[in-house]
Amino acid sequence: MRDGADTLPPLLAALGGARPSRPPVWFMRQAGRSLPEYRALRGRGARGAGMTGMLGACLDPATAAEATLQPVRRHGVDAAVLFSDIMVPLALAGVGVRIEPGIGPIVDHPIRTPADVAELTAHALGEAPAGPSGLAAIEEAVRAVVAELGSPGAPGATGGMPQRALAGLAHSRGTWGWTPLIGFGGAPFTLAAYLVEGRPSRDHLAARTLMHSDPAAWDALLDWCARITGEFIALQIRAGASAAQLFDSWAGALSPEDYRERVAPHSARALEIAGRAVSPATGGRAPLIHFGTGTARILADMRASGADAVGVDDRTDLAWAISELGGEGACPVQGNLDPALLAAPWAVLGPAVDACLEAGRAAPGHVLNLGHGVPPTTDPNVLTRVVARAHGDGDWEGAALAGWDGWPGPSAPGGSDAP
Ligand code: CP3
Repeated sequence: MRDGADTLPPLLAALGGARPSRPPVWFMRQAGRSLPEYRALRGRGARGAGMTGMLGACLDPATAAEATLQPVRRHGVDAAVLFSDIMVPLALAGVGVRIEPGIGPIVDHPIRTPADVAELTAHALGEAPAGPSGLAAIEEAVRAVVAELGSPGAPGATGGMPQRALAGLAHSRGTWGWTPLIGFGGAPFTLAAYLVEGRPSRDHLAARTLMHSDPAAWDALLDWCARITGEFIALQIRAGASAAQLFDSWAGALSPEDYRERVAPHSARALEIAGRAVSPATGGRAPLIHFGTGTARILADMRASGADAVGVDDRTDLAWAISELGGEGACPVQGNLDPALLAAPWAVLGPAVDACLEAGRAAPGHVLNLGHGVPPTTDPNVLTRVVARAHGDGDWEGAALAGWDGWPGPSAPGGSDAP
């Protein structure tokens, strides 16, 4: 174990290239539909910054803070991840966008021509009518989350919480006494893919056509996306997030050459902007994780774009990914349990958790996670049990097996229409 490994929360130790005594674990999409308490919260129909649906929930500070904290209290994970969406900064820059349940982001006027790009890139983050109140709402949500998770020298609040939720929070905070919050944003290519296609797409044909046919418009579009998302992440860090992740969900749709030449410089710009922000939680810059799916052939480029750690998806063998990233000279890695394993018998899942941790030992630091998001159908008790297994903590596993007492969170966040 390197010096300092156990004075920092395990997530920050691992992202700094140390090997903490407890392997850090969190789950992409840990906040969300797998949790009954989340479904109850969303049922209250919060509206933030005048918006409805998923974006309205993200922009209502009490709802966003509550959804962020729910999985920490329940699972005892090593990090919270802000309840938000990669499309939020686009909405706050004036893009007409909504998130359709069961489909994903829908853009009112897809960007197809150089004139569309010119019109779009004239806007800045926070410039929409809802922009200032939306940005303030995100800062307020981050501050409320940090007030419960704690920070160095400032133990978090626990008022009114029942025993089981308190136990989860205490397990998460561990002996170092606080839990980091991860901020995030979408990478320029993934944002541009939604802006050009106007909706989720399998092959991103229209986006790639624009990339090939009008490199100048493409560059302008990605540069704009990089600034918007970089500033969005920086805002979360300045408000209290102590790590961040750039999601390039669709980067795997590109050839390595196109990724390197047409996309990676813009991802680097987003990471550079985020990397300049100072977190009040740690007094320093926040380590940055760069994640995408189908990225086996571009892992080294993703690292080279200025990330501190690379997230590996479940289509890539973790041991292979680490050697591709440089073996002992690799950066810290995150991943990569197949989300499908969450529905497998424990006799299959438990050993898979152990194998993933074992593979991760070849890297200078490893954060256990899934290779993509938690499926909404996941039994939440399974997630708690994965945390306990990774932590090697039989007491916490007992808590997971005993289940959850059904606490939906503090009464009535986001309005008075709570059930
Ligand atoms: O990880 C977390 O717990 C934090 C929350 C988070 C959300 N979106 C909340 C959310 C994160 C990190 C995201 C990022 C995001 N959003 C990405 C990148 C990550 C990835 O999955 O590749 C993408 C591509 C989006 C766009 C988006 N938003 C999609 C495709 C969807 C799913 C639509 C659906 O109903 O199937 C969303 C909606 C969304 N974002 C939900 C959540 C919890 C579900 C909303 C709900 O119905 O409650």
